[in-house]
Amino acid sequence: MKHRIVLALVVVVLVTFSILFRASAIPSIPAVASETSSTSLRALAQKRGINIGAAVDFAPLQNDPDYRAVLTREFDIMVPENAWKFEYVHPTRGHYDFTQVDALMAFAKANNLKMRGHPLAWHHLIPPWVTKGNFTRDEWIAILREHIETLVGRYRGQVYIWDVVNEAINRDGSLRDTIWLRNIGPEYIDLAYRWTHEADPQALLFYCDYATEELGQKSDAVYDLVRGMLQRGVPLNGVGFQAHLGLSYAPKLKSLAKNFKRFGELGLEVQFTELDVKVQDGVGSWDSRLVEQGKVYAGLLKTCLEAQTCTAFTTWGFTDRYTWIGDLTGLGEAPLIFDKSYRPKPAYDAIKDVLQTE
Ligand code: XIL
Repeated sequence: MKHRIVLALVVVVLVTFSILFRASAIPSIPAVASETSSTSLRALAQKRGINIGAAVDFAPLQNDPDYRAVLTREFDIMVPENAWKFEYVHPTRGHYDFTQVDALMAFAKANNLKMRGHPLAWHHLIPPWVTKGNFTRDEWIAILREHIETLVGRYRGQVYIWDVVNEAINRDGSLRDTIWLRNIGPEYIDLAYRWTHEADPQALLFYCDYATEELGQKSDAVYDLVRGMLQRGVPLNGVGFQAHLGLSYAPKLKSLAKNFKRFGELGLEVQFTELDVKVQDGVGSWDSRLVEQGKVYAGLLKTCLEAQTCTAFTTWGFTDRYTWIGDLTGLGEAPLIFDKSYRPKPAYDAIKDVLQTE
């Protein structure tokens, strides 16, 4: 009998220890020895009155010192590439996992980077408990509301911009058939902004989408959507143009400038929020493609600087070593401004030139 009690006590102690150990295994991100340079992109961009940002992937930030060094040297905004997405942050009903976002937030503060929150209502990376759930409309509303209030409330006052609704519009201008539209109706959009604003009145609220850089059916629909929201008194501060581009489909700059202008006239900020430029669809030698890529980056930045209302230039990653763009040909798409060894590419130099030219 005595033996059994001792054995049971040992088991209880071991289980408690293993739980405590797991709970304390928060992935911390090593500090960066701050290296300031008056010719870094962030220093030059600040002089021109804009911010320069990058999406950040958690694993390399934690494991790769070069990644941390380049990020903190060159950029002044970071946006978690995936950590805030529904599937990762809210994987099962009633259970949130903020481990990564908390570590990213601490890193952003320690290194003087503004934090962009992304995304709150999106159709992609939603866990099965939501997509396969059988709920009433009121329950769908409660799910989205609780998700938004929990994420936004936890970081109240610490997030510079929230991408509230992401990619809600199809190429033909109609509303995308998402679980939120299907189960709540078009009002999910206004509601999402109102809940976000209530949970963090200081954060700027953005609508973001892709293939909206030029004037056209899709950007007209975004324009109509946001104008309607403003007329209804919905809190909205800006529009993000993702700009996932390739050499053969970069936007025409005149059209982009007119597009920026009309959003600016509504009183909204505009930003590039997920820029990358693929090169396999281009022509000519590898080197000439990288030069062309630099011209695309430079043209967009120049248009941003000329627009007055364009407040940030954010790329989706920053090194070709870690990019979400698939490598279908095995030759690489090299979409970003640093190569796989963190060497600045022609695109980096082209951006710098634009920032240094008044
Ligand atoms: C992408 C991430 O980069 C990938 O790692 C992930 O597998 C899928 O999502 N538009 C968006 C971003 O708004 O959140 C997407 O990010 C890229 C397209």
